[in-house]
Amino acid sequence: MTFAVYVFDAYGTLFDVHAAVARHAAEAGPQAARLSELWRTKQLEYTWVRSLAGAPYRDFRALTAEALDFAAAATGGLAPGLREKLLAAYDALAPYPDARGALEALKAHGARLAILSNGSPDMLAQAVDAGGFGDLFDAVLSVDALRIYKTAPQVYALATERFGVSPAQVSFQSSNRWDIAGASLFGFRTVWVNRAGQSDEYADLPPARIIRGLDELLRLND
Ligand code: LAC
Repeated sequence: MTFAVYVFDAYGTLFDVHAAVARHAAEAGPQAARLSELWRTKQLEYTWVRSLAGAPYRDFRALTAEALDFAAAATGGLAPGLREKLLAAYDALAPYPDARGALEALKAHGARLAILSNGSPDMLAQAVDAGGFGDLFDAVLSVDALRIYKTAPQVYALATERFGVSPAQVSFQSSNRWDIAGASLFGFRTVWVNRAGQSDEYADLPPARIIRGLDELLRLND
């Protein structure tokens, strides 16, 4: 543990994005898994398209709702009331069980901790509260301050500016391989949390380290 600052992606890394549909799986029916996958895929696509096009900014809460509406339409619609339940569940996503222990151990070693996320500030505040992480983070940084999404380099610069460090002094953890690509290009030491054992991609923008869960972060020989 030789990094002064550890920065974490939120959705998919600390919080399980599939926990919302999982919580209401019975009501979502047989299409639940496809609904959840499509919801996440479209949510991200909307961030990239809008950022690349220079479209007017719409925050992550709005894009999350738009993406759910598309995913619902593509999978045969939602039961009455389920849209509201799923959006509410997205504000209280379950944290991964390995997150708290890893964060506490890093903090105990004197590291400074931050979240750097596409999430709207109010979404992140609720997620941090619901996850019981309120005492652990020195900063919760949202792209909202810049009105552009990852992987714009200025988003990663929010962390270096906040802590007054160079990119090489930051260890950045994300389970999203595309986020690791952007963060590696920015100059962070990147750790890909490859929970699902996915195939690698973005070969010219590799992670510095690959782990299967956040508990392994503590065992890295930096
Ligand atoms: C985030 C999304 C991309 O938290 O996972 O930034």
